[in-house]
Amino acid sequence: MLILGIETSCDETSAAVVRDGRFILSNVVASQIEIHRRYGGVFPEIASRQHILSIIPVIEEAIEKAQVTWDDLNGVAVTYGPGLAGSLLVGVNVAKAIAWARGLPIIGINHIEAHIYANWLVGEPPSDFPLLCLVVSGGHTSLFVMRDHGEYEELGHTLDDAAGEAFDKIARLLGLGFPGGPAIEQEAKYGNPEAFNFPRAWLKGTYNFSFSGLKTAVLREIQRYGEGISLKPGVKLPSSVPVADLAASFQEAVVDVLVEKTRQAALDYKVKEVLLAGGVAANSLLRERMKAAVPVPVRWPPPELCTDNAAMVAAAGYFNMIKGLRSGWDLDVVPNLKLGTRR
Ligand code: KG4
Ligand code: ZN
Repeated sequence: MLILGIETSCDETSAAVVRDGRFILSNVVASQIEIHRRYGGVFPEIASRQHILSIIPVIEEAIEKAQVTWDDLNGVAVTYGPGLAGSLLVGVNVAKAIAWARGLPIIGINHIEAHIYANWLVGEPPSDFPLLCLVVSGGHTSLFVMRDHGEYEELGHTLDDAAGEAFDKIARLLGLGFPGGPAIEQEAKYGNPEAFNFPRAWLKGTYNFSFSGLKTAVLREIQRYGEGISLKPGVKLPSSVPVADLAASFQEAVVDVLVEKTRQAALDYKVKEVLLAGGVAANSLLRERMKAAVPVPVRWPPPELCTDNAAMVAAAGYFNMIKGLRSGWDLDVVPNLKLGTRR
């Protein structure tokens, strides 16, 4: 079964052709990072306009690279939320037009579920449920128990910033650029993770997260190095600021909390495996620490499948479609879409 996946929820325009939810024939990603870099974050209006320019060439390239024809496709899967409304609209409308024109079934996919299914795109897929999924991206930080394909219970989520958002904001404060995750990871290699003992929000007795206090603590620390230090994007910090130590200590604090909460949930829910998903799952410290701490196998997608891409949407589309699920022509975007039931 060949599924065409389409993803336009944020700032990547992507199309992919995936066989049987597992084998990637093509996965074309047109990133807008260079366009948004000058704003220090994603500019929603510009993102949706850029999707309009990129989407058709990206889909054509995905079909060509997969060496298939339109007639070979068996369905179209498209992200319909959560995400930026104007961006989601581009993907959903193009997907509908293709499905209508080619007489194909269409299915709307939850972007968070798509991130989880990136784990089915490499090696032998998970064979047994329940699974514990830590979704850590620029927009989301949640722990889910996945009891079967398509069955999720959310154990907890962030009460303020998402983990990736925290990386992006701190990177901006430290003058490390956008996106912040890879920049902080790189800088942290030269720093001492124990230089600063930043606060960890444990929120005991819950599986919730909070990163805004940590952000304030890093900000205060930076300000100690100079009266009225400028924190405007693009303005260089004085050389006295120990950027590498701050980056390393910040990363350490985020990873500590993500790992401990996941470890506890893995024990409490007796899961068979832990799956990492979303852009922050590309972080190597998080991967190493998780593997060492959790008593069950831990898996994660390769970095290019952790960040937004359409192959993961096609994979999720396949596992939904083989259960008989389809969307109607009334499929619309849902910018604040949730996944699963809440604990
Ligand atoms: O999943 P994603 O591409 O987009 C959303 O759905 O939000 O995640 C992007 C986020 C950004 O915040 C980025 O800084 C973060 O993932 N990220 C990382 C790393 N690579 C990307 N965070 C920490 N370490 C990384 N290596
Ligand atoms: Zn994402």
